Amino acid sequence: MAKTAAQNDRLTQVGPGTPMGELLRRYWHPVGATVQLDENPVRKVRLLGEDLTLFRSESGEFGLVGDRCPHRCMAMSFGVPDERGLRCGYHAWLFDAQGNCLEQPWEDRIQPEARFRDKIKIKAYPVQELGGLIFAYLGPQPAPLLPRWDLLVLDDVDRGLDIQPIPCNFLQCMDNSFDPLHFEFLHAGFGNYHFKRLGLPPAMTPAKHLDIAFDVFEYGVYKRRLLEGQALDSADWTIGHPVIFPVLLSIGDNNRSGLHWRVPTDDTHTTQFLYSTRRRKPGESARPMTVNYEVLFDENRELVDAIDRTIKQDIVAWVAQGAVTDRTQEHLSPGDKGIILYHKMLNENIDRVARGEDPMGTIRDPAENEPMIEIKRSREHDKAFKIRDDMEPALWQNAEAGAAG
Ligand SMILES: [Fe+2]
Repeated sequence: MAKTAAQNDRLTQVGPGTPMGELLRRYWHPVGATVQLDENPVRKVRLLGEDLTLFRSESGEFGLVGDRCPHRCMAMSFGVPDERGLRCGYHAWLFDAQGNCLEQPWEDRIQPEARFRDKIKIKAYPVQELGGLIFAYLGPQPAPLLPRWDLLVLDDVDRGLDIQPIPCNFLQCMDNSFDPLHFEFLHAGFGNYHFKRLGLPPAMTPAKHLDIAFDVFEYGVYKRRLLEGQALDSADWTIGHPVIFPVLLSIGDNNRSGLHWRVPTDDTHTTQFLYSTRRRKPGESARPMTVNYEVLFDENRELVDAIDRTIKQDIVAWVAQGAVTDRTQEHLSPGDKGIILYHKMLNENIDRVARGEDPMGTIRDPAENEPMIEIKRSREHDKAFKIRDDMEPALWQNAEAGAAG
């Protein structure tokens, strides 16, 4: 049954005070990469409909504060990093990572006893660094622990990050992750059609899905598939790979793995952090993390680049549903049972938060988080579909690692 407009709004609106916005504010979300702050220590961030400024102070502390100075509303993205925080560029008011105003140079000089600065605060949220990424938490205190997913912690892998701005709501990106069948039709069918139009050979060989299944576990949902020609003990069917609730897809195998966060920027934009790891071969030296910014659609949702990789085919499907999919017009079939399960889980967890409870996957016990949270995953369908190497993230190409997979 199609949703009502109100049911669709409840699942897609992410701003402060909305039901989904409140649920998403109970999780840590990536907002950038450490190497981006090496390049420029002050950066604009838009997350869950809030405009913010991410910075690294001269002493190396990270901060995430409101986008406007409370003095005369100049953008803090023009701020200047200081030992103790970030100074507004206009009159040099200094704010720390907790949002306190530490200095007002002119006011402190003229009327030091007034301590006007004590009356001034800027919005501030906690940030933490892990695995080359910077994560932010916009919810109520006490914040849960930042999850130590294995790929963020392992020390025998190289890392690459693609940051992809996507001009549509996050839910259509996530629905795609609960829809294994699209691999056969979007990636093999539609994908190969586009290669043919470009005069190029097919990038993969279609394989038929015999069955799909979904298993809820403590951090999300494992999705499994059985393809024609695969044995019942195939890892695609016995293990599969998980969506970590609420907005993280985990893919790959023992050698080439990935974490794909679909971070809601606002109601009509998503930022995908496509984090790829590759296990180093014995004796291979570590490579620094690479960061690549990739735009496939412009602000008018017009295609501005070639559809020449698997992930780009996904992005086309998401954006081509519109800024926010009109779910009053959908006709879901039995093949969409994963999407129906996901929406039910989102609604249940919205209700948990409304009751004052922690939602699914909240980690508060350090013993659960240390040294890392290992995620089982398989990716045999890459072989079943005979996917050409150049369809994969750059880090994975020509990189059949030595360790057993
Ligand atoms: Fe896909």
